[in-house]
Amino acid sequence: MKLDSRIKIVDITEKAEYEKYIYRCLAPMPFRRYARRQKYLQEAVPKGFRKKLLIFNDEVVGTIEYAPAEASGYPIKSDNVIVMNCVWVLRKAKGHNFGKLLVEDMVKSEANASSFATIALENHWSPWFIKWQMEKLGFKSIDSSQVKHKIKHLEQGFTIHVMWMPIKENAEPPTMDWQKLLEGETFCMAHPLYRPQNWKGSILELIK
Ligand SMILES: CC(C)(COP(=O)(O)OP(=O)(O)OC[C@H]1O[C@@H](n2cnc3c(N)ncnc32)[C@H](O)[C@@H]1OP(=O)(O)O)[C@@H](O)C(=O)NCCC(=O)NCCS
Repeated sequence: MKLDSRIKIVDITEKAEYEKYIYRCLAPMPFRRYARRQKYLQEAVPKGFRKKLLIFNDEVVGTIEYAPAEASGYPIKSDNVIVMNCVWVLRKAKGHNFGKLLVEDMVKSEANASSFATIALENHWSPWFIKWQMEKLGFKSIDSSQVKHKIKHLEQGFTIHVMWMPIKENAEPPTMDWQKLLEGETFCMAHPLYRPQNWKGSILELIK
């Protein structure tokens, strides 16, 4: 696939000049190296974590981050699966299918992977990880659980889906360690399932 010359996908995993994007991603917030992200990166980068930016007309408008299961941000397991922690394209760049382009770049870069997995949310109050968007990117739901947040929107249950995209014929569907996921994640503080530093115990509880 040949990219339009205005589009660049850059692997920034170990590029110091792009460090702010590793920490604050595309969010309009000040760059701060925070301990949990630092710890996650220290462990995940040597195991194959990657973060990439999509630059369009010299402006950063998209990102994707992924890692092999053992270094990913979610407790997803399967043989030879790459787990996409996150993908994000800014609304101002929508209409170019940049999300799909980032996913295709990941699939091409991880040619040995049998499949790719991520999560999706349904009925969550945030605009993140919406199921139909993850489906548009090529993933399908293979498992789900209904949960409740323990601090926010206590009255609103939502569903977490395990999303999968097999590539090789013999790919084995991944499994989610739901108990672990209920604890909340710690790899990115902007994530809707983030567990605050001072919170003891799980951040989510199972409804069914
Ligand atoms: C999913 C996402 C990456 C797609 O961005 P994009 O590639 O710029 O999307 P596009 O505008 O080019 O649209 C892609 C496809 O979705 C369709 N689409 C876009 N908006 C739609 C809508 N509101 N309803 C239905 N379809 C829609 C488009 O028609 C297009 O379909 P096609 O592939 O059949 O042509 C982007 O919406 C996003 O970043 N969402 C948030 C992801 C997220 O939660 N990240 C976590 C951050 S913490």
